[in-house]
Amino acid sequence: MTSSYRMIVRAHGGPEVIEREDFAIPSPAPGEVVIETEAVGLNFIDTYYRKGLYPDALPISLGSESVGRIVAVGEGVADLAVGDRVGTTQNGGAYATHRAIPAAKAMRIPEGVAPEIAAAVMLKGLTSCYLAEDTFPAKAGDVALVHSAAGGVGSLLVPWLLDKGVTVIAHSGSAEKAAQVPGEHSLHCPFAELPEAVRDISGGAMCNVVYDGVGAATWEASLASLRKRGMMVSYGNASGTVPPIALLDLMRGGSLYVTRPTLADHVATPELLAASAKKLFDRIASGVLKPKIGQTFALKDAADAHRALESRSTTGSTILVP
Ligand SMILES: NC(=O)c1ccc[n+]([C@@H]2O[C@H](COP(=O)([O-])OP(=O)(O)OC[C@H]3O[C@@H](n4cnc5c(N)ncnc54)[C@H](OP(=O)(O)O)[C@@H]3O)[C@@H](O)[C@H]2O)c1
Repeated sequence: MTSSYRMIVRAHGGPEVIEREDFAIPSPAPGEVVIETEAVGLNFIDTYYRKGLYPDALPISLGSESVGRIVAVGEGVADLAVGDRVGTTQNGGAYATHRAIPAAKAMRIPEGVAPEIAAAVMLKGLTSCYLAEDTFPAKAGDVALVHSAAGGVGSLLVPWLLDKGVTVIAHSGSAEKAAQVPGEHSLHCPFAELPEAVRDISGGAMCNVVYDGVGAATWEASLASLRKRGMMVSYGNASGTVPPIALLDLMRGGSLYVTRPTLADHVATPELLAASAKKLFDRIASGVLKPKIGQTFALKDAADAHRALESRSTTGSTILVP
């Protein structure tokens, strides 16, 4: 019998709370398929569930992004078959050798896209897609500030925006990271110096949009980098959650807009998911996106992967392999 295990959390805490649990390979319920995992994508969100920042009932089966071959198909699933390679960003349970997922949440992976690459881009690439296309449909000539530009989401969002003709001011936490970021304006200054740098690069115009997944540490610098009626997109909390804000600060900043989006709302139906996946995989096929796997860990060493991600020492995507 094939052995199967998953990485779980019985009590919230640091990376050390992640433990391995053996389990029986699930059978698919009606409408589900079971996949044998080939690669898991690591996401900062996984650390929020581990710590308890995002609530979930304990014990938590960690992970939100994985790719594998279908090994069993549940009743009522017509368009997927055993042997198909699919991926999912369905929340929970991705750090596992086997996983039952709703067929409606399964994305068929195009031929020619390696499972590790697919796992690297699924959640982070679909996030880049909605940030660039929907939350703020950036267009040629717009000026955008992107934080953590060498990171998982950042390394996909920056080329996506550059391809649209956006002037991207890309910030990273170190010179080594900044050297890996495409485009003319890759910076690694202290956060507090960003508004001045943006002023210089934009000739005083400032940004139409700021994409900020860092959260608490960058909030003030991000707001100060916007032009009047600019859009602040706060999509993550890598440095901690943004404290409650005073609406009057938005007026004083120049009638600013703020939004706090999440991927699930942008791929809530199979149609939305398929349309977003097409945009993502089209950009990989055409070479606009060149997904980078910066680090690979064994699935059983997920705690080490969390330590690397939270210490800001990763670049690109990180993969866990069973
Ligand atoms: N809302 C959504 O739909 C959605 C979906 C996916 C991801 N996200 C969010 O997007 C962000 C990026 O996720 P990711 O998985 O791609 O991670 P990542 O960008 O690969 O890693 C996080 C990066 O945040 C930066 N950072 C700045 N201050 C930090 C601090 N105090 N502690 C840790 N990191 C810090 C670091 O980059 P530098 O050193 O370059 O500053 C670090 O590499 C996260 O906030 C995540 O929650 C949101």
